[in-house]
Amino acid sequence: MPAYICGVGLHAPANIANHDLEARVETSDEWIVTRTGIRQRHIAQGEVTSDLGTQAARAALADAGLDAADVTHVICATCTPDSYCPNTATQIARKLDLAAPMALDLNAACSGFLYALQMARALTTLEPGATVLVVAAEVLSSRVNWTDRTTCVLFGDGAGAAVVRAQPAARAIEIVDAMLESDGSHGGLLTILGGGSARPYAPGEPVGDDFFVQMNGREVFKVAVRSMTDVCRRMLERHAMTVDDLDMFVAHQANLRIIEAVGKKLDLPAHKVFANVQRYGNTSAASVGIALAEGCADGTFAPGGRVLLTTFGAGFTWGAVLLQF
Ligand code: UT7
Repeated sequence: MPAYICGVGLHAPANIANHDLEARVETSDEWIVTRTGIRQRHIAQGEVTSDLGTQAARAALADAGLDAADVTHVICATCTPDSYCPNTATQIARKLDLAAPMALDLNAACSGFLYALQMARALTTLEPGATVLVVAAEVLSSRVNWTDRTTCVLFGDGAGAAVVRAQPAARAIEIVDAMLESDGSHGGLLTILGGGSARPYAPGEPVGDDFFVQMNGREVFKVAVRSMTDVCRRMLERHAMTVDDLDMFVAHQANLRIIEAVGKKLDLPAHKVFANVQRYGNTSAASVGIALAEGCADGTFAPGGRVLLTTFGAGFTWGAVLLQF
C-alpha cells in the first residue's frame, strides 16, 4: 500500500544569535560557527512543546487542504514532551479541537520524525481511510543546561509536521521506503536521565546535571557519520539507485560538519546536500520535519524529484526514508 505526505508545515519561535549566548557561557560566535555551522537557533518563550506542534500541524493541514476534523490519528515525536502524563499528542489534539483521535507520543530522539512517518505509513495500511497527523516538536531549551557550553549552544526549539494518507492529495509526496534502526548499547553517550525510573528524584530534591542533555560530542559525531552513511548506502542499493538518481539529500541537522561528512562519504555533490542547521541549530526530532516543510515552501524539493532523508539520535536510533515528490 503506498502512503503519501499530503501536507507539511513548520513552526519556530523567536530566534537568538550566537552572540546572545556569549553572555551566558564562555563561548564565541567564531567557535560555534567553525565547529557546528550554527549561527542562530529558536528558543520558546512561554510556549510549550504542544504549542509549537499545534502551530506546525495547522500549517500542515492548510498545506494539505484538509480540516482538523479529517484527522483520525496524531503521533507526536518528541523527547521534550509537555509532561510525562498526559502525553503531548493529546494536548495537540485538544488545541486543534480534534474529535477523539488516537493520540500517542513516540520518543526516538532525533530520529523521531522518520520513526513517526513509518508508524503513520503502517496505520494507513491498517486503516486505509486514516488521516494521520505526524508532529515532531521539541522545546530542547527546557532540558538544556544553560551553564554547559558543550551542549547549550547546539540545540534549538521548533516543530515540523506532516499529514500522511493512503491517497494522494494536492501535495502528494510518496513515502517509497523506510529503514529504521537502533543500538541501545551506546545509550550512555547522549542522555537526559533525570526524572526517569532509573534516576528518580525524591520530593524536594534539587535537580542535578543529569536532568539535562549530556553528550560525549566527539563519540556521537563519529557514530552519527558512520550510521547515516551506512543506512543511506543500503537504502540506495535496495532500490538499485546511485546518488545520481537523488535530487536532494537531507540529513539530521545537528552539525554542518556531520552533514557535509556524510554527503562526501556518499559522493554527493554539495548542491544536493540540504542544510538549514545554520538557522535552527539541532531541533532533535523536529529537525528533518522542519527541513521538509522549509524545502517544500521554497521550492528546493521540486515535483518529480527523489529525496533521501536520514537521521541519527540518542539511543542510538537512526534511519533513512526515501521520498518521491
Ligand atoms: O542530535 C543527536 C546527534 N548529535 C550530534 O550529532 C552532535 C555530535 N557532536 C558534535 O557535533 C561535535 O562533537 C560538537 C559540536 C558537540 C563539539 O565539536 P568538536 O569539534 O567535537 O569539539 P570538542 O568536543 O572536541 O571540543 C573542542 C574544544 C574543547 O576544549 P579543549 O578540551 O580542546 O581545550 C571544548 O572544551 O572546544 C571546547 N568547547 C567550546 N569552546 C567554546 C566545547 N564547547 C565550546 C563552546 N565554546 N561552546
